[in-house]
Amino acid sequence: MKHFINLKDISASDLRKIILDAKKRKNKRKKLSTLYPDKDQPLKGKLFIQMYEKQSSRTRLSFHIAINQLGAGSITVKASELHLGKGGESLADTAKILSTYGDGFMLRTDSDKKIEDFSKNLTIPIINLLSPSSHPCQVLSDVFTVEEIKKKPISILNICWIGDCNNVLNSLIAASVKFKFKLNIGCPKNYRPPKFVMDWVKKNKRKINIFNDPKKAVKNADVIFSDKVVSLNDKVNKTKKIGDFKNFKIDKKLMSLSNKQSVFLHCLPRGDEVSDEVFLGKKSHVWQQALNRVHVQKSILLYCLGKLR
Ligand code: CP
Ligand code: NVA
Repeated sequence: MKHFINLKDISASDLRKIILDAKKRKNKRKKLSTLYPDKDQPLKGKLFIQMYEKQSSRTRLSFHIAINQLGAGSITVKASELHLGKGGESLADTAKILSTYGDGFMLRTDSDKKIEDFSKNLTIPIINLLSPSSHPCQVLSDVFTVEEIKKKPISILNICWIGDCNNVLNSLIAASVKFKFKLNIGCPKNYRPPKFVMDWVKKNKRKINIFNDPKKAVKNADVIFSDKVVSLNDKVNKTKKIGDFKNFKIDKKLMSLSNKQSVFLHCLPRGDEVSDEVFLGKKSHVWQQALNRVHVQKSILLYCLGKLR
């Protein structure tokens, strides 16, 4: 069994295997309706337990569908209804119970330490559904979407991120190292990725370009990514932060400075960082991006259970 916590800790070949499996599985079930299982039902009889300590629409629903398509079942528990936390049960005991009933545990939380502690106490895999430091399922799925749209390996594309240096960007940075793609980041000076992230990139002999001018960042970009300026439970002065990003809004004019065939992707939910015209426009593939979460997460589940073909 394998955990799926951070892209940086998973080998490039395993990440590539997950993407290839997702592609095959997606192709094979083109005509099947949402809850109809894949023919081989590789996880028939298994139970996955999801827990969300923060809001989620896409991750929650796409995992529910993914689990069903693999022939397995899922239950979503609310942190507030478990003994863990307010009920006084230790994390170690809860982990033991989850491992007794379930075959996999998925957690969205505000604490990276909680994911780490669970991973040490569970005897089943844990999947990180978003933490302060990363959003690995989102970004692996986004790599899949980029290659699906562009019909090219991501390694030969210019990827650009305009926005906050947050959990999604951390995972995108990790992906840029694993999949060896060029990454430009456009953000205000005070919102650059932390030193330890950049040191890790350097240690892995990769380089990321950071620009304080979004116009420079999007030059030659094939794909432009963004995310909300203020993340869930971001403990900042929201008005100030949004003000700091006022010159980083992605509008048609900024998109026109990227490559002619460029596309726009956004994990959602969105805020003011992108204009409606771009978000709902021809270059945007955000709905396809959201749907692909299902396909890639199926292969992540198979990877975790040692059942990847
Ligand atoms: N993109 C994403 O993870 O969305 P949710 O917060 O709705 O799960
Ligand atoms: N960066 C955002 C991603 C939401 C899917 C957040 O953490 O809220």
